[in-house]
Amino acid sequence: MTKFKTELETFDEFDEALNPPPAVTDFDRVVDEALSRRGFLGGVMAFGAGTFVLGTSALTSMPAVAAGSRLGFDQIAANTMDAVTVPNGYSSQVVVRWGDPMFSGVAEFDHATRGTGESQASAYGDNVDGMALFELGDASVLVNNNEYTNRSVMWGNRPDGKFETDDDVLKGLQAHGVSVVEIAKGANGWAMVKDSPYNRRITPKTEMEITGPGAGHALLQTAADPSGTRCFGTWNNCGNGRTPWGTYLACEENFNGYYSSSDPDIEITAAQKRYGVSVKDRGYGWAQIDERFDIARHPNESNRNGWVVEIDPSNPESMPKKRTALGRFKHENAEVVVNGDGHIVVYMGDDERGEFLYRFVSSGVYAEGADNSDLLAEGALYVAKFHPDGSGKWLALTPQTTGMSSQAEVVIHARMAASAVGATTMDRPEWVAANPKKAEIYCALTNNKNRAIKTNAGGDATPPVGPNPRAENNYGQIVRWWPANADHGADSFRWDLFALAGNPTVHKDAYGGSVNINDGNMFNSPDGLFFDSKGLLWIQTDGNYSNKGDFAGQGNNQMLVGDPATGEIKRFLVGPKECEVTGAAMSADGKTLFVGIQHPGERGNSHWPEGGDSVPRSAVIAVTRDDGLPLG
Ligand code: FEO
Ligand code: CA
Ligand code: CA
Repeated sequence: MTKFKTELETFDEFDEALNPPPAVTDFDRVVDEALSRRGFLGGVMAFGAGTFVLGTSALTSMPAVAAGSRLGFDQIAANTMDAVTVPNGYSSQVVVRWGDPMFSGVAEFDHATRGTGESQASAYGDNVDGMALFELGDASVLVNNNEYTNRSVMWGNRPDGKFETDDDVLKGLQAHGVSVVEIAKGANGWAMVKDSPYNRRITPKTEMEITGPGAGHALLQTAADPSGTRCFGTWNNCGNGRTPWGTYLACEENFNGYYSSSDPDIEITAAQKRYGVSVKDRGYGWAQIDERFDIARHPNESNRNGWVVEIDPSNPESMPKKRTALGRFKHENAEVVVNGDGHIVVYMGDDERGEFLYRFVSSGVYAEGADNSDLLAEGALYVAKFHPDGSGKWLALTPQTTGMSSQAEVVIHARMAASAVGATTMDRPEWVAANPKKAEIYCALTNNKNRAIKTNAGGDATPPVGPNPRAENNYGQIVRWWPANADHGADSFRWDLFALAGNPTVHKDAYGGSVNINDGNMFNSPDGLFFDSKGLLWIQTDGNYSNKGDFAGQGNNQMLVGDPATGEIKRFLVGPKECEVTGAAMSADGKTLFVGIQHPGERGNSHWPEGGDSVPRSAVIAVTRDDGLPLG
């Protein structure tokens, strides 16, 4: 519908509309040089070709599958129903929804008004994303990002789907952040425990500490906080991480779209442009109720976002900590690995077209039972360089390598630092997941329609080579790599592609996907990745659900399972209409898989989960086997 056109822009499209990157490549020329010349468009994905490296498992998966599959369920068909579908022998139920009150005395969700600023501050946030489940004594505590809100749903009680009052704006603001709730399994399945002492909303108003090399730097100082060490809030938290010392990592992604300028003529700096900060917000109106979102008055406020935020779910009074050592960019998630030598390694994607993949290595080492609480405060930051021959390097980001004045500047302007060292522009790095069974890491590269068409926002070219081999890539792929000597601290690695998503019924060339993609399991836009304890890779999608044209036969967004050893991929779950499936966590006994359903009905065509004429509500669901055995 035309009236919601602005809302239906993706975050990237919003950024590009305000700050178009230059087109640097002639499509025909680049494709000709990088693809056709190497036989790529001829429909043959050559073994070991220079253009890209396909995993041997991806090429041989079908025979391996026939010999015995570890994916012990009947694949479900793609579909476009307004429901969650799972395989025969499995069931799903809703655990908690946007607007569910977390405390007594807070009103139940009101479908007519969709709540108020006050009710939303004590109710479950909107648009669930990354999550983790913590076992704290006898309590199961779910920590869950509330990435953003769909304005047309949040303010669907207004005639044009836009905010009208300051309280409307506040309601939207309070729906962002993180929800922490105890959950328990009773006679009717899993449910939130209202009034649990663990229950907590973290919102854009929650006070936070800024730690690490950026703390106190002039770029982080504001009128309200001349020390540059205290800020308020987190928002647009996409994926997540969890640490072995029991904390949760919320990752700030498209933080820029909440800032605007009371003076439309102010000059936007190069750094603001690189991060998409502009005079116009995306329609949230936060500057209307809080002047810190006005960049004309408080230009450094937006430097206090784009970080990984560490939260201790065991203590509802604890102050979240922004970890500047991990770099400032549009964070997807933060995959934490304890390296063999005890150093903490965190792998992180920057989800924007042509941005980069990063690694943090802690200065200190992890020791069970010791005080590990500040391991993310100090360490080295790296960015990935992929070579087309299947090798790769981690390039250190330091004042020496980047020409920047200090490590504080390096982390605050990490994107520019990474450009300075010549990192590989990627097809929107989304979640990273580490295989618990071996030193092997996967990253979903969701899609990039600008590949070989436009530069990234920093002017870096986007040639179609290496792990990003297809120009105008609307399907996405999953890259994986193996650190040298199984050492996550090593500076070199080998890589290949686990899967190229595509549509083999429409395309007979590389856009048909890798050999482990077929008519039965095809999907587009891999996004969430999650390993279970058996070493199976769960893949969630956030893509085109039109089920037409290039996407015919792919249905609604979904969740699949992949076997790293064989390359086999099977569809396990399909979400309701116009949703994204994102965020996952397994119960301690392996018998329940929690999954996030985000923005059902973002175009106005869902009433999930309550049906009838109800407002669609993002929710966490629990998936179990009917025979009570563990999943997977
Ligand atoms: Fe919030 Fe990159 O997805
Ligand atoms: Ca995502
Ligand atoms: Ca996505």
